[in-house]
Amino acid sequence: MNPTITSIGILTSGGDAPGMNAAIRAIVRTAIYFDIKVFGIKHGYHGLIHNQIERMRSHDVAAIIQRGGTILKTARSKEFMTDEGMQIAYNNIKNQGIDALVVIGGDGSFRGATEFAKKFGIHIVGLPGTIDNDIYGTDVTIGYDTALNTIIDAVDKIRDTASSHDRMFFIEVMGRDAGFLTLRAGIACGAEAILIPEVDSDINKFIEFLENGFRRKKSSNIILVAEGEKAGGAFEVVKKLQPYLTGYDVRVSILGHIQRGGSPTAYDRYIATKMGTEAVKALLQGNTGIMIGIQNDKTIYVPLEKAIKIHKTIDTSELEIINIMNV
Ligand code: F6P
Repeated sequence: MNPTITSIGILTSGGDAPGMNAAIRAIVRTAIYFDIKVFGIKHGYHGLIHNQIERMRSHDVAAIIQRGGTILKTARSKEFMTDEGMQIAYNNIKNQGIDALVVIGGDGSFRGATEFAKKFGIHIVGLPGTIDNDIYGTDVTIGYDTALNTIIDAVDKIRDTASSHDRMFFIEVMGRDAGFLTLRAGIACGAEAILIPEVDSDINKFIEFLENGFRRKKSSNIILVAEGEKAGGAFEVVKKLQPYLTGYDVRVSILGHIQRGGSPTAYDRYIATKMGTEAVKALLQGNTGIMIGIQNDKTIYVPLEKAIKIHKTIDTSELEIINIMNV
């Protein structure tokens, strides 16, 4: 046990993700279990600067495990990235006697946390919370599984109408910089093709598909397009493909922010609780500057510097599965 940790602050930052509440609940209750004071910081780093810091008790996290979003709310704060902002944030947490922070968010949130830790010697543990699953060092992020299930549910519904009308649908899936959601959802909903930012030649391959009489094989087609696809999203892809789409009855559907909401799946509740518990234990054992990841179903400690700097790569062999399934 690290006797210097007597009080922990929790914040959620960046885009919200289903399962963040389950993680907050786990951190609060684990801290209380080990006789550590715990504080919730509202609106991420913004709340740290504006002193939106409140003591949390066990009942504050009752009945939140099943709720989407984050009860602590979230924000993106430019102010925190300034020397002045960080100094105010530090003064606020010192006044509350907080000596460690658990930050739930994506790599941008971890970047802020790492800077802050370097400057002021605050103990920091990160939990990967983003639907995009684009954080190095963990097989999965909190919210990814729920978002996948939401996407699949939506695509199944679109498939019904697509096949009734013999239409081709280009469905845009979230993922500003990464195609993890698109790839896995594509496999799970039986998409005819996917377009993701990680694969440059995607569009050309897709044109080949079309030229090879792709249409004749199927009455309806579902093409998933990652938001971050290089052409610039589903509408742009359709514009680019226009000359090759004659004869197809094409529709575009943008799934949008429904992908970020909703009650977390069993798996997201499970990993969030496991990671939240581990975050507190890690701090109490003297760890700092780490992210709790999940690898092969076990929690692991990943240096935050690595989680920030190393780019998580897509398993491109999974792309072949999509092609095989469309034989
Ligand atoms: O949470 C990650 C993410 O969903 C990205 O895939 C998406 O580009 C982004 O958030 C959109 O976030 P916002 O609407 O908050 O700008």
